[in-house]
Amino acid sequence: MIKVGILVGSLRKESFSKKLAIHVASLFPEGYKTEFVEIGNLPFYNQDFDDEDNAPSEYTAFRNKMKEIGAVLFVTPEYNRSIPAVIKNALDVGSRPYGANVWDGKPAAIISQSPGRLSGFGANHHLRQPLVFLNMPILQQPEAYIGNVADLLDENGNVKDERTVKFLQTFIDAFVDLIKKHSK
Ligand code: FNR
Repeated sequence: MIKVGILVGSLRKESFSKKLAIHVASLFPEGYKTEFVEIGNLPFYNQDFDDEDNAPSEYTAFRNKMKEIGAVLFVTPEYNRSIPAVIKNALDVGSRPYGANVWDGKPAAIISQSPGRLSGFGANHHLRQPLVFLNMPILQQPEAYIGNVADLLDENGNVKDERTVKFLQTFIDAFVDLIKKHSK
């Protein structure tokens, strides 16, 4: 069983990212278990806490959780043409202490979304930069830029647009292929 951690870049209750993430979580085949990983509770990364005895309990719980995770799916909005701080903070917390990078070697995929038409392109590509450095093989194709997201969901937050439903399945299938390539 491979655990896929889902990290959502928005903390708001009615988040479109969260709604999309809930949809895609159900698209993985047998043998995969998806798990939403809490990142909104992590105190800002502070290098003074690298000493394990000093680490906030949230850091330790997050790092331990990530050790069980085999692959990571990011679903995120764009904030000011970049990634939301909660995602960057989670990446930083997971990358330290030096030599204990929880992201190392884990296949990753990115879905960016926006109610606007630019579809979170800036966030999608800014996120790739730290992921490359953290040594995560990233799904390159297809790319997932979900624009005009409000029009694609029904009043209960389910994805109602058929083309998007199909596309998201294709995207997850490609991610699963990437995960298989990188599992030992
Ligand atoms: C935004 N929004 C936004 N949208 C976009 O397409 N490009 C951007 O650069 C920004 N910048 C931005 C900054 C901040 C601080 C906020 C709060 C919002 C709008 C954003 O896409 C919209 O609020 C989404 O609904 C946020 O995603 P969730 O919370 O629905 O997942």
